[in-house]
Amino acid sequence: MSDPTIYAQHIRIWYGTPAGPVRAVDDVSFSIQNGEILGLVGESGSGKSTIGRGLLGLLPPGSVMDGELAFKGEDLLALDQKERFKRRGRDLAMIFQEPLTRLNPLMRVSEHFTETLRTHFPKISDAEVEKRSLDVLQVIGIPPSRWKAYPHEFSGGMRQRIMIALALVLRPAFVVADEPTTALDVLVEAQIIRILRDLAEQFDTALLLITHNLGIIAEACDRVAVMYAGKIVEIGDARDVFSDPQHPYTQELLRSTITLTTDGLHSIPGAPPDLIDPPSGCHFHPRCPKAMAHCAVAEPPVRNKRGGKPEPGTTDVACWINQLADVPEDARGPLERGEISVADEA
Ligand SMILES: Nc1ncnc2c1ncn2[C@@H]1O[C@H](COP(=O)(O)OP(=O)(O)O)[C@@H](O)[C@H]1O
Ligand SMILES: [Mg+2]
Repeated sequence: MSDPTIYAQHIRIWYGTPAGPVRAVDDVSFSIQNGEILGLVGESGSGKSTIGRGLLGLLPPGSVMDGELAFKGEDLLALDQKERFKRRGRDLAMIFQEPLTRLNPLMRVSEHFTETLRTHFPKISDAEVEKRSLDVLQVIGIPPSRWKAYPHEFSGGMRQRIMIALALVLRPAFVVADEPTTALDVLVEAQIIRILRDLAEQFDTALLLITHNLGIIAEACDRVAVMYAGKIVEIGDARDVFSDPQHPYTQELLRSTITLTTDGLHSIPGAPPDLIDPPSGCHFHPRCPKAMAHCAVAEPPVRNKRGGKPEPGTTDVACWINQLADVPEDARGPLERGEISVADEA
């Protein structure tokens, strides 16, 4: 098998702050094959955008990233800034959340595409710019008659499509879409998701689709990674994870989605932890309905469902329940929570 488009191993990303380092991404591993869509889901603040930006080399000053990151077998972290910049756009692209703030209101659609293409291919002719751009715009459902229009002449959904087309006109092999549909209504959202799926298929693009919406994952993704407090707690085939969720956090997330449409919102009790001083053991243990005594003291490694080594094609999960054989017998009882609730009330 050829190298995956993205191979990320033991990625850690910390932000320096006056209060101490924020461990936004804490030992995360995954890979994405070409043509594959990996969904990344989790509560706000769990580190999703940080992963997306880290993969593209777009972290702010003061942040530190380590681990192993390869694009089609090439070590990305070994590249200098200039080489990294060259890769960005051409090989690796990002679709952001707020389209209007990213399109220049004074520039026509045609000018946006010309600028994007010329940055990476300085010698490209006007005719070639127009041809390549209109090809992508057509896939995305924007007719050639709008080529000279300005951003304000489009609806929010159309502008988001233009943003996507701008990211894709360079035919990147890898795209990060960070909550690309949050600002859109449900119908437009469905269209955008369909477009992304078509693109992954037609151009063999690998896609990391970041969202807090499980419906989008179910609709669009081949695989899903569930993030909690800087860690991937479960990753696997989307259908498998949805039909047979392993991690108690995934189970709670799915429960909150289901009840949203039935009898009101079931929110997961408690709040996501402080990533400057995350909980000991499993980061989820203070909120976990199934926590054992062991969960508060030891961090569960990533294993397949049956506690064995992760292998391609398995659903992997970081939870002691799946590796009970490795939990000392006297630490399998339910976690004593008396002190935690006192601390919460204080
Ligand atoms: N530039 C930054 N400086 C310091 N902390 C940050 C910065 N950006 C994000 N964080 C923190 O990192 C954690 C993860 O944030 P983020 O990746 O944006 O999560 P998500 O996209 O899942 O909502 C949060 O605790 C957030 O407050
Ligand atoms: Mg985010």
